[in-house]
Amino acid sequence: MIVTTKQLFAHAYGKYAVGAYNINNLEQTMGLFQGCMDSKAPFIIQLSKGARSYTHKKMLEAMIKAADEIFPDAIFAVHLDHGDEATCMDCIASGFYSSVMIDASAESFDQNIAITKRVADAAHAKGIVVEAELGKLGGVEEHVSVSEADAKLTDPAQAEEFVKRSGCDSLACAIGTSHGAFKFSGKQGLHFDVIKEIASRLPNFPLVMHGSSSVPEDEVRRINFFGGKMKDAKGVSEKDITKAGKMGVTKVNIDTDGRLVWCRVHREQFAIYPENFDLRPPGKVFMAEYAKYIVGKNKVLGSAGQLEAVRALIKK
Ligand code: G3H
Ligand code: 13P
Ligand code: ZN
Repeated sequence: MIVTTKQLFAHAYGKYAVGAYNINNLEQTMGLFQGCMDSKAPFIIQLSKGARSYTHKKMLEAMIKAADEIFPDAIFAVHLDHGDEATCMDCIASGFYSSVMIDASAESFDQNIAITKRVADAAHAKGIVVEAELGKLGGVEEHVSVSEADAKLTDPAQAEEFVKRSGCDSLACAIGTSHGAFKFSGKQGLHFDVIKEIASRLPNFPLVMHGSSSVPEDEVRRINFFGGKMKDAKGVSEKDITKAGKMGVTKVNIDTDGRLVWCRVHREQFAIYPENFDLRPPGKVFMAEYAKYIVGKNKVLGSAGQLEAVRALIKK
């Protein structure tokens, strides 16, 4: 069942965070749904601009609709990740997405507000909710690389003004994380002081943490063992993710970890079975391993075991 992120956040706020997982293909889709069913967790499936053009946006929609039928108990939101204005408007018009992210964080404060407001007005007219971004995360996103030195933490006073003027429903804040597999190169950690200040200025308002992959050491070690070159890869500690979930961060974005599981499985499978040239055996292993990863992550987020409580709330 497709719901809005607003419905999911209403139950989660202050208690736990909902996992927002990027998908690109059917193996990721199946692994994600299976993992969320195994851990009885509500979730957010998110599609980037890159994912929408990897095969075809219609292919993604069809996969998700099929998964919804295969897993009738699933409760999830369908969300556009890091959209520009035109892509947001396309998703709003499609009638398929329940949530969009407008990312105008590279614009000036006033421009960001103006663009976000246009998207929020169009989305709200159709019952769709809107995530916006303020501040600048480091790392690579849609081929734009922001060095950690150029990254800019969200200013809490600006966040309060931004939400009031833009009409967004949730806010992605730059709090020290970055996209990709090489986080915290400057040795800094998560800025809990910033999260706390934003949450106190915006009580009960859902905050979003991008760049939240943990980059598990064991995945990186196994990738490197079978020929990968991922020196100094580092992610967000799981302890910090759990803590953020209790402080007003209700959506935690994870893409890189899924890619690492994919990469590790395929490197291992082709190294161990060099005679194999069939796509299905590694694909099967990947779906099972990704589902296992999702179960573990939902436990860390605190979303595991919340499915029936969310269903009861939605039915009311
Ligand atoms: O924040 C960006 C996400 O990790 C999406 O990555 O644009 O390569 O699909 P992508
Ligand atoms: P990671 O690169 O840490 O997985 O972050 C993904 C993300 O923020 C998607 O919007
Ligand atoms: Zn992101």
